[in-house]
Amino acid sequence: MTTPIIELRGITKSYGTIYALGGVNLHVNPGEVVGLLGDNGAGKSTLIKILAGVIKPTSGEILVNGSAASNWSPARSRAAGIETVYQDRALAVQQSIVRNIFMGRELAGPFGWLNMRKQIAEAERLMREIGFTSKVFSPHSIVGQLSGGERQGVAIARAILKQANLIVLDEPTTALSLTETAKVFHFVRQVRESGRSIVFIGHNIHHVFDIAERFVVIDRGRVAMEKTKAEVGSAHALIEFMEDVAKPHHAREIA
Ligand SMILES: Nc1ncnc2c1ncn2[C@@H]1O[C@H](COP(=O)(O)OP(=O)(O)OP(=O)(O)O)[C@@H](O)[C@H]1O
Ligand SMILES: [Mg+2]
Repeated sequence: MTTPIIELRGITKSYGTIYALGGVNLHVNPGEVVGLLGDNGAGKSTLIKILAGVIKPTSGEILVNGSAASNWSPARSRAAGIETVYQDRALAVQQSIVRNIFMGRELAGPFGWLNMRKQIAEAERLMREIGFTSKVFSPHSIVGQLSGGERQGVAIARAILKQANLIVLDEPTTALSLTETAKVFHFVRQVRESGRSIVFIGHNIHHVFDIAERFVVIDRGRVAMEKTKAEVGSAHALIEFMEDVAKPHHAREIA
């Protein structure tokens, strides 16, 4: 049995009398891409914010490499190697790729000067590592001139720099064209090749089916399904399941 790099057990989150999460178990194995699916308001973002330590669960346990973690926080989450990419909100579009990758973690040289040359070399290495193939862009390129998919790449490169072993992508392709989505997928595959794990949240079931190897469907704060790609069989089967989940409770009871 492999020990998951991270495991959530019985996580609940209530806002007053409303339960956003009603007891969720989720684990991520090393080197695995997990697809997290569910309707709007199902609780996906709440769950990954708990993973990131930015939201405190009402109850439940978090285990890192099999050991219970206490006082879970953003710092603890980062120390456990978890980095979350929240669409492209976190990027400074007027700044260069290298500035964005190193933002807040600039390499200092003698007298506290920024070691720009080292940063550029490292940015180049990271861009290659995640499969940035476009010859048009260098670490000096301004992020605002990159396409949506490439911007996701910069955000992913930044997460890798932080030594993430789990990168969480919350709807990284929602606003993107097919070509741009393909770029993000290419980056995700490269990250996986390097042995890191990924949690991929998406609305397009075809996309998520394509990229992930295990699927967790959240419905109204609970896990409605958890299956490997082999168990699900096809994107079509996954869509049918999702449609069934989306039916109101009484419709499902009658059916
Ligand atoms: N701060 C809050 N106060 C009250 N309710 C909240 C708060 N944050 C989230 N919720 C509720 O928790 C539920 C889960 O929201 P969440 O954002 O996790 O859903 P989601 O699955 O990410 O949806 P989407 O696909 O639309 O991004 C929703 O019903 C939401 O209204
Ligand atoms: Mg969300």
